[in-house]
Amino acid sequence: MKGIILAGGSNTKLYPMTLITCKQLLPVYDKPLIYYPMTTLMLAGIRDILIISTRDDVPKLKRLLGDGKQFGINLSYAVQEHPDGLAQAFIIGEEFIGNDCVAMILGDNIFYGNGLGYMLRQAGKVKDGATIFSIYVDKPQEYGVVELDENNNPVAIIEKPEHTVSSYAVTGIYFYDNRVVEYAKALKPSARGKLEITDINQRYLEDGKLNIKFMNRGFSWFEADDEINISRAAKYIQTIEKLQGIQVSVPEEIAYNNRWITHEELMQSAQRYGKSPYGQHLKNVADGRILYSSIKPGERPIWGTEDESLKQKD
Ligand code: DAU
Repeated sequence: MKGIILAGGSNTKLYPMTLITCKQLLPVYDKPLIYYPMTTLMLAGIRDILIISTRDDVPKLKRLLGDGKQFGINLSYAVQEHPDGLAQAFIIGEEFIGNDCVAMILGDNIFYGNGLGYMLRQAGKVKDGATIFSIYVDKPQEYGVVELDENNNPVAIIEKPEHTVSSYAVTGIYFYDNRVVEYAKALKPSARGKLEITDINQRYLEDGKLNIKFMNRGFSWFEADDEINISRAAKYIQTIEKLQGIQVSVPEEIAYNNRWITHEELMQSAQRYGKSPYGQHLKNVADGRILYSSIKPGERPIWGTEDESLKQKD
């Protein structure tokens, strides 16, 4: 399974903050926004990740994240010349995807919740069809929305419907089989001139190949796309981290617990970040001082396997 982070776009909504950088490099409390979607893919067990962004921003993202070795992953980069739509990612990424399945996450999406990794890894096991994730929201008109019939069966996926068809938004993480490349290439631009991911999802739905997972109320999902949503997400992360005294969405920690980097490599990163809370957190992970609820003190969790305590009913 390959992974794509789509981190382009025009970024104009956040001017002047994004005059010289992209939104995905802005801080969300204590780390750059892109750390959150990147760690979400890592939690899904994905190690080969393509980051797609603008010609201006690819070099900046590369400076921050490099080839991913420090996170035990392989990062590559590609340019999207114009923001012509989310589905264009599969055309740009065709060679990278090869004959594999692919998961795509939007570079401004933040997910948090118990059992998230397990849920995503289950989606990654499906080799035929697509899996998308939906969540109940207050303003469905701002998103792609799942229309349901009276028996709660999905009948359509509609992009930003003018009239409420349901309150279930489609979140920005998608798992596809290899057909997605062919489907993306066959797309025609929508009325707003974009290659819409919603049209791809609708196609899988019509083929009877779309699996929709509804995230329950215990999950939090943020689309950090404007100043209000970024600040909301930052406050949420700050609250969790301060209450627990541990950091969330730390790629080195996930890599270590996935056995993708060694103890020595983790310590090197801890030293690099020195006395910062981030560096301190890495040191605590390396010293076995972070308690994970499902394991005994001092043990390391095994996130790559099916941890019973993290299972949730489909
Ligand atoms: O976040 C979930 C929503 O994302 C879904 O519910 C919608 O179905 C989906 O269309 C998308 O809606 P948005 O209104 O958020 O799409 P937007 O055009 O704002 O693009 C989302 C992100 O992707 C944004 O960070 C910019 C980036 N982007 C966008 C386009 C159109 C690109 O990198 N390249 C692009 O071509």
